[in-house]
Amino acid sequence: RDALARHLPGSEVIVVANREPYIHERRDGVLRVQHPASGLVTALEPVVQATGGTWIAHGSGAADREVVDRHARVRVPPDDPAYTLRRVWLTAAEEEGYYYGFSNEGLWPLCHVAHTRPTFRGGDFAAYRDANRKFADAVCEEANGPDPVVLVQDYHFALLPRMIRERLPRATIITFWHIPWPNSERFGICPWGPEILEGMLGSSILGFHVQAHCNNFLDSVDRYLEARLDRERQSVVLGGQETLIRAYPISIDWPTRWAADAPAAPLCRERVFADLGLAPDALLGVGIDRLDYTKGIEERLLAVERLLERFPQFRGRFTFAQLAAPSRTRIPRYQELNRNVEEVARRVNERFGEGDYRPIVLLREHHEPPTVFRYYRAADLCYVSSLHDGMNLVAKEFVAARDDEAGVLVLSRFTGASRELGEALLVNPYDLEEASSALAAALAMPREEQRERMRALRTFVSEFNVYRWAGRMLVDAGRLRKRDRVSGRIT
Ligand code: F6P
Repeated sequence: RDALARHLPGSEVIVVANREPYIHERRDGVLRVQHPASGLVTALEPVVQATGGTWIAHGSGAADREVVDRHARVRVPPDDPAYTLRRVWLTAAEEEGYYYGFSNEGLWPLCHVAHTRPTFRGGDFAAYRDANRKFADAVCEEANGPDPVVLVQDYHFALLPRMIRERLPRATIITFWHIPWPNSERFGICPWGPEILEGMLGSSILGFHVQAHCNNFLDSVDRYLEARLDRERQSVVLGGQETLIRAYPISIDWPTRWAADAPAAPLCRERVFADLGLAPDALLGVGIDRLDYTKGIEERLLAVERLLERFPQFRGRFTFAQLAAPSRTRIPRYQELNRNVEEVARRVNERFGEGDYRPIVLLREHHEPPTVFRYYRAADLCYVSSLHDGMNLVAKEFVAARDDEAGVLVLSRFTGASRELGEALLVNPYDLEEASSALAAALAMPREEQRERMRALRTFVSEFNVYRWAGRMLVDAGRLRKRDRVSGRIT
């Protein structure tokens, strides 16, 4: 809020993100609000609560239409309204092509090195273009003046910045890409690569989590567009308009509200152990994810299997609870993943289970944040094994939850978070020897070492929190705006 007031005084903020922060559902006649499992929402929602303004999202909940006014708006959070949520309604065919098709069978596997082949269909891209246009209409409807600050979020909206720029030339458009950007050779297989790059370059600032993704993006522009590139300034000029390319590592709010509301660690442990039927001297590992092939969930369970093979002292004592929120379930690759994960868990449980003991507990359903935080606090370790991940906020949430300075984070080197959280045990999740050794080391780690590592991690995340992420972008946007005013581009 401070950054906004100081650097962009009087500006209104409009956020565009496909996923909505509150999903309204009616079950058994009762209206309920669900918090989606989304890193983007986790990060952004506290920021929008602080700045106020409007969040434009796809309305996906069964009861979303029940709670909005005739302009599809509702004030949220429901119990203490701070900003406006504006829903955009998509037809089933639009959702199929734009969300399931081009976004999640095209761009998602294109941008993640996780060995799933991208599928590109012309019809999907047409739906993606149409959906982006619908969101551009919504931005123009919501804007009260000619120069709003528009925060465009993620790979669902590559074409949107240019569409907004054409209709609101004085807008400050900050686009943040929440997933990795591939190297230019890989990006070249996308049939609509140049249109995507041109679309994104409608932004004033284009943000990625890490510098390597900025470099990949600049290489892609260099290879596939006729644009002026300044590598030193990290800027691209296309059609007389400049876009700055910058790394802004995303984070979580601090103190995170879910940790503040959760019972203390010993109580969480008691409750979770009771729920899972574990003995008081048992050891617990947790994994928290959307059920997505980029998260390395199969590799994670294989690492647990290897741990039990190599270190018999943990058999009968160590349980790994995987909370996996079903995600994008209409896509065949996600259905296949679901079957594979189930199969590995079954096999490991058959090999090492005995009596009531099951080494792997698979909880495949949506869990609300209070439950997730209970598991974080109950655990001896949290294993984040992504094969490729822009940042990964589960790693940071685990750290935020552990105000008892206990518990060990085992973290894939292929996450953006691993570049910041060096006190975690960093592993290559494909290397089951290294991963199982790290799990064993985590379970045997003395309390003093746990405390030292956790304290350092907590200091880092508390300082580099999501307000700083947003603040840095807003400060940079404010500087640009000032420069453009001075040079007469904005009056
Ligand atoms: O953080 C990456 C991301 O794809 C977000 O863009 C998205 O909100 C989240 O993961 C969850 O995916 P989905 O919105 O498809 O459920």
